[in-house]
Amino acid sequence: MRALFPILAALLAFSGSLRAQVVVKSGGAAASDGYYAARDYSALLSAKIFSFTPLANHFKLYQGYVKNTNLLIGRLKELEAAGATSTQEYSELKRRFGWEFNGMRLHELYFANLGPAVLPEGSGLKAALAAQYGSFEAWRTAFLAMTQVRGNGWAALVYDRQASTFHNIWINEHDGGVPAGAEFVLVMDLFEHAYMPEFQLDKARYAQVFWDAINWPEAEKRFLGK
Ligand SMILES: [Fe+2]
Repeated sequence: MRALFPILAALLAFSGSLRAQVVVKSGGAAASDGYYAARDYSALLSAKIFSFTPLANHFKLYQGYVKNTNLLIGRLKELEAAGATSTQEYSELKRRFGWEFNGMRLHELYFANLGPAVLPEGSGLKAALAAQYGSFEAWRTAFLAMTQVRGNGWAALVYDRQASTFHNIWINEHDGGVPAGAEFVLVMDLFEHAYMPEFQLDKARYAQVFWDAINWPEAEKRFLGK
């Protein structure tokens, strides 16, 4: 219990600041002042990929990550200005930042790589995946198998540009297992909220619907570093 006290104290202080300070802007994501704005993905509601209510609720969850990332930034600035960087609150909130930030950014990558569109003719991404995995289908099989891992997290295809190598990765929660410096090409939300409301326990069905709804030109653009 004693070990939990610093964490509880930090979270209580943070929830207090949550009531006191809400910094969420409208419009595109802009961080010129150090804060973030929630992006608008409402066009996906008419794309008929997922049902309206589960997807609309998913947008609200994403907006919560944007809000809490901004709250963390604000509170950490306050603590730094007050010279309170040796406090337990500062220490615990610093540890929380990557979780909130990745919760925001991974959702943005996920929503942006939805919206069914085929791979462009002569796709460099498809050719590179086929070269590394033996065939595009072999990579597809490996990626989809990974999506069935138990637990909450994310499945992603990342590209290690330094070594010109892809990796299919599982991210635990939002921040466990993210390879430093790797670039996200394709991201799939595998928290229960992403599929349970519509597909219940049928995660394989969710994976198939996701696969059929991938915005491949967006993935191609990320692979090319554009
Ligand atoms: Fe999500």
